[in-house]
Amino acid sequence: MDWGMKNRLSRIIKPTTGHTLMLAVDHGYFMGPTTGLERPWEAVKDLVPHADTLMLTKGVLRNCIPPETDIPIVLRVSGGTSIIGKELLHEGITSSMEDAVRLNVAGVAYSITVGMPWERDTILDLAQIVDMAGEYGIPVVAVTAVGKELGKDAKYLSLASRIAAEHGAHIVKTYYCEDFEKVVDTCPVPIVIAGGKKLPEKDALTMAYNALQTGAVGVDMGRNIFQSENPPAMIQAVKAIVHNKATPEEAYQIFQEKKK
Ligand code: 5RP
Repeated sequence: MDWGMKNRLSRIIKPTTGHTLMLAVDHGYFMGPTTGLERPWEAVKDLVPHADTLMLTKGVLRNCIPPETDIPIVLRVSGGTSIIGKELLHEGITSSMEDAVRLNVAGVAYSITVGMPWERDTILDLAQIVDMAGEYGIPVVAVTAVGKELGKDAKYLSLASRIAAEHGAHIVKTYYCEDFEKVVDTCPVPIVIAGGKKLPEKDALTMAYNALQTGAVGVDMGRNIFQSENPPAMIQAVKAIVHNKATPEEAYQIFQEKKK
């Protein structure tokens, strides 16, 4: 792994704690103007100071985020489906690595859908993205997207996460589940968890805490932050868990205090 790849990885997973708080705002690439992301810059401008990376699409990056914004970017490079389409998550490659370089990204993110009829397409695309990104020393975050029909249990998430790692992903983004340590234990690269659907803040903080406790290196959280009743308070609470060893109770206290 050359200097550039290591440097980019260290901009995602912070060497000081070995953890990362990735703020995910890429949802529009298949959900459209989802609640909380109607105006992307409005949604993130007060969150950026507390996040380690911003995960988004090239369209939002170019059109909504001021280029002087000082935060490592993880670029969503898969897409091509929508929540009203027949084959949600049967995604393909949506960016060249030359464009990722032009955008000065720290990493790229690609979804695979293990277990869906088109799993082969997405897994082979991931392997291709790993090679293409590797040419430029750009790490790949593999997203184990979960189709409605698929469970989010340790058995499934261990399978999907390991397949992503076997095909060259540098970081795997999956979901927290019971026996999560089994998912971490059999995945040879760092794992971060998505937050998933909006939960009560305390529950989301507990989930993040449990994930860290069972071996995740961090979160790639979106809705549980930008759909929170107070997103800046919530991201600071999540950050306390990710980087300052806070308990859910301590983090929730921070949320309550920052809300005022
Ligand atoms: C959306 C994504 C998001 O990056 C990922 O799901 C994290 O966001 P959230 O915490 O809202 O689930 O891949 O497709």
